[in-house]
Amino acid sequence: MGRRNGKALVRIGYSPALLSPASVRNRGALRQKKGFDPMRLKINQKRVLGKRDPMIYGHFIEHFHRQIYGGLYDPKSPFSDEKGLRLDVLEAMRKIKVPVLRWPGGCFASSYHWKDAVGPERKPYFDKAWRVEESNAFGTDEYMDLCEKLGCQPYICTNAGTGTSEEMSDWVEYCNLEREGRYAKWRSENGHPRPYGVKYWSIGNENYGDWEIGAKSAQQWGRLVKESAKMIKHIDPTTELTAAALTDLDWNISLLKNCSDFLDWISIHEYWDPLQEKNQCATYEEAMAYTNHVDDSIENIQGLLTAMNLKGKIKIAFDEWNLRSWYHPNVFHQPMGVTKEEYLTPRDENDQNATYTMADAVFSACFLNACNRHCDVVKMANFAPTVNTRGCIFTYDEGIVLRSTYHVFDLYVNLLGDTVVDCWCEDAPKMTVKSKAGALEEIQIIDALATMKKDSAILSLVNKDPGSGRALDVDFGAAPKEYRLHTLTGKAADSYNDIGKNEIFPVASQWLPFDGSSLTLPPHSVTIAEYRF
Ligand code: AHR
Repeated sequence: MGRRNGKALVRIGYSPALLSPASVRNRGALRQKKGFDPMRLKINQKRVLGKRDPMIYGHFIEHFHRQIYGGLYDPKSPFSDEKGLRLDVLEAMRKIKVPVLRWPGGCFASSYHWKDAVGPERKPYFDKAWRVEESNAFGTDEYMDLCEKLGCQPYICTNAGTGTSEEMSDWVEYCNLEREGRYAKWRSENGHPRPYGVKYWSIGNENYGDWEIGAKSAQQWGRLVKESAKMIKHIDPTTELTAAALTDLDWNISLLKNCSDFLDWISIHEYWDPLQEKNQCATYEEAMAYTNHVDDSIENIQGLLTAMNLKGKIKIAFDEWNLRSWYHPNVFHQPMGVTKEEYLTPRDENDQNATYTMADAVFSACFLNACNRHCDVVKMANFAPTVNTRGCIFTYDEGIVLRSTYHVFDLYVNLLGDTVVDCWCEDAPKMTVKSKAGALEEIQIIDALATMKKDSAILSLVNKDPGSGRALDVDFGAAPKEYRLHTLTGKAADSYNDIGKNEIFPVASQWLPFDGSSLTLPPHSVTIAEYRF
């Protein structure tokens, strides 16, 4: 079955282990409880919900802990190219066709001065957000080299904390002007005569939060965003700008009232399982309770855009998301950690691979299904982060590990269609789960998404039930000719991948004639079902 060990996890192109459909079905069927009738999933190929933007499979990388230094940028590693980029990481990122990469933060951005990190004279400084020295070895030109090698769109988050509108717009000059002005000339002197043409810019990060360096009031925010946007658009009117929203009505209304003429996007961030101060991951069941709330985050902002007549003008960038937030205690809130053991060393705990289980994969698939369903308004999303911390790729000196979430991207990016069509479950089964906060919540057991690609329909089917496979009959209105299944699961809900241990990986069946028999979705699994007509 093509098992891999931790040292040889990277393959080129989507290449799952191949199984017969019967064996794929049996992964779950053996554990299907008696007494469940198959559910009926109806698909209406003519009811098109919209075209999905590939940018919803985007990523985010921040100058935090081992994401960049000692992660994807590691000049000392034998795996790195002449510019210090880890080739094994690049290969894995190319395979999931990273379409857009947000950088340099995050909270880091709010006290970052980009001018100190270009050219031959790099000035190290003390990063006040994360309380460590930043060498500035990886700056704008290194990031642009990374994006070029990945073939992805750059997306720069500016400093709206300690920075000024002028500093932000100087950055746009450096990246986008041909030769006018001192910053375009500076880029040229630094060995990059051709402009980078960065289209996507974020004005600041989470400047509403008191954890952010240089946090702002709603009023200050509206003013700063407007003035910055004006300067940026005067330099390059083809840029697309975003600024941070919050699930707070006043903040968002003030931002949109003041700045909607200048903004193309509004950004939202969500980490459902809060681990910043206490690294106690929600259990599988608790994580499933969070799947109830993804659509709400989108629909809250969508409703506001509609109410303010901005539907169609301003798009949603879900530009930081992950099931779980990052563990960095004693840095944002009082009491501040005094010693490294209090605020720095704990960050290593983010990289305990045993905490990246099927809960993360199942949740991520539900998240991507929600973005696909809302593809008329969600046009970008950025998994936070890509490498290390709570990323989908873990690096160590001798290689990389692809965590459970990596395989979700692999399946979605490489298999799903871009036209989203309507589908619904008749008698959709529900189960009651206990949330981390102790509340009982009723959740849908199956999350289904239907997409189309040429003459194929591709379903993404998530079974959240940790203990039982679920049978499913699909009804397209017309019988498909043949089908193939790709299933991502592990033996247990808490299976995980680590160095020398590969418990979660996708398997695929051969193409087989469609005979109308039920599919079985294994417990705690993500299944991509392809149908040809
Ligand atoms: O915990 C990491 C931080 O999460 C990111 O820097 C910030 O943007 C978000 O609050």
